[in-house]
Amino acid sequence: MAETVPSLAFSNTKRVKEGEDGGAEYDRALAVPIMKRAHGDPAAALANARHEFGEHGGVNMSIEASATFTVMEPETMRRMFSGELGPDRDFYVYSRHFNPTVLNLGRQIAALEGTEAAYCTASGMSAISSVLIQICGAGGHVVASRCLYGGTHALLSRFLPRACGIRATFVDIDDLEAVRAAVVEGETKVLYVETMANPTLAVANVPRLSEVAREKGVMLVVDNTFTPMVVSPARLGADVVVHSVSKFISGGADIIAGAICGPASLVNSMMDLQHGALMLLGPTMNAKVAFEISERLPHLSLRMKEHCERALVYATRMRNLGLKVIYPGLDDHPHHGVLASIANPGYGFGGMLCLDMGTEERANKLMQHLQNTTQFGLMAVSLGYYETLMSCSGSSTSSEMSPEERSAAGISPGLIRMSVGYSGTLEQRWSQFEKALALIKPPSSLKQQFAGLLV
Ligand SMILES: Cc1ncc(COP(=O)(O)O)c(C=O)c1O
Repeated sequence: MAETVPSLAFSNTKRVKEGEDGGAEYDRALAVPIMKRAHGDPAAALANARHEFGEHGGVNMSIEASATFTVMEPETMRRMFSGELGPDRDFYVYSRHFNPTVLNLGRQIAALEGTEAAYCTASGMSAISSVLIQICGAGGHVVASRCLYGGTHALLSRFLPRACGIRATFVDIDDLEAVRAAVVEGETKVLYVETMANPTLAVANVPRLSEVAREKGVMLVVDNTFTPMVVSPARLGADVVVHSVSKFISGGADIIAGAICGPASLVNSMMDLQHGALMLLGPTMNAKVAFEISERLPHLSLRMKEHCERALVYATRMRNLGLKVIYPGLDDHPHHGVLASIANPGYGFGGMLCLDMGTEERANKLMQHLQNTTQFGLMAVSLGYYETLMSCSGSSTSSEMSPEERSAAGISPGLIRMSVGYSGTLEQRWSQFEKALALIKPPSSLKQQFAGLLV
């Protein structure tokens, strides 16, 4: 072949031959490996994706930290820029475009989510904004759930309309007729929801919403940040799945990262030299970060199971104390049936729960004791950490929304969102919770249930 690669420059580079890669097929016309779309358990799909060894046979994959890649013949460079030679044949140009380590992580995340391809980004917000800009183009329209992470809500309601004329209509996604009615023929390109909404934990009926999306010819984009492993939206009909990898997937509260999972054609279009939102806006992931995340994926399923198990125990006990707890794993939650029908068996119902304390003042008092008196958890935004993280959503991660928008989304001013951690023992943490609860004066309606806890 003309692109014979002298051994000096590439002697250590792994070269994937066609058909050699377990789990992935390489299409010569495309750049990213196309994963076989696995159904069934996400942990099994992840394990079936080929394990990447280090270049010296290390059990961990190597980090390709280079920003740029050499060629031995000038002609090869021209062929790479024309799109003729690409990562599918182990030819890399520059790491804002494809990077081998980031591509490997993408392959694993595609396996996890059951999509053809995935690519990783510098943050969850960059994944979301790039996908929306890529799919909508200037002036497109998005039908979105009215309960979304505050940053995404602000992106859709304020930033994108101003920056590129992309407009959004927010609807109650439980009302499929309202979803249908909000679609503007010829203009709506995306139906956008969160599998489990931040912060209300409302669950999207992904299979029904995907039917509506198909019927209307729009793409269903689902943010699965709250429920990796627990729900696999693409296996239920979503076209694109986005993640804030900064949360459960990372698990360490030490990395900001994102991922876009979807058809190989979409991922490749986002890398197009002339028109790709990832290539041209540039929020690609750093290879060292990709390596870090790849080390944490193998225990994501174990971590999720423990987050979910503890959340269910705490939610059940909180309900038994007469507290207003919101957790879709409880059988009296309005979306329990939907979640039970779409959840992957064996993982549980999510590691997030909400406690509605009625007012912000009472929420703050409880969180203050939970952190500073009894050490139950930490007052911090974000989620997926091994410690329990707590925040009052109305004044923090949903503060971008107006009071009216929060009220329409069901976000009460006293809502404490908890990301349930797994450090310490369950009973140790529960007794810390009970002690903190006993320190706040209950409203009269709850006095009876709290009577035994008052000090
Ligand atoms: C559901 C959801 N999606 C997206 C984001 C944005 O992700 P990142 O902070 O990684 O940009 C967040 C939180 O920050 C979130 O909670």
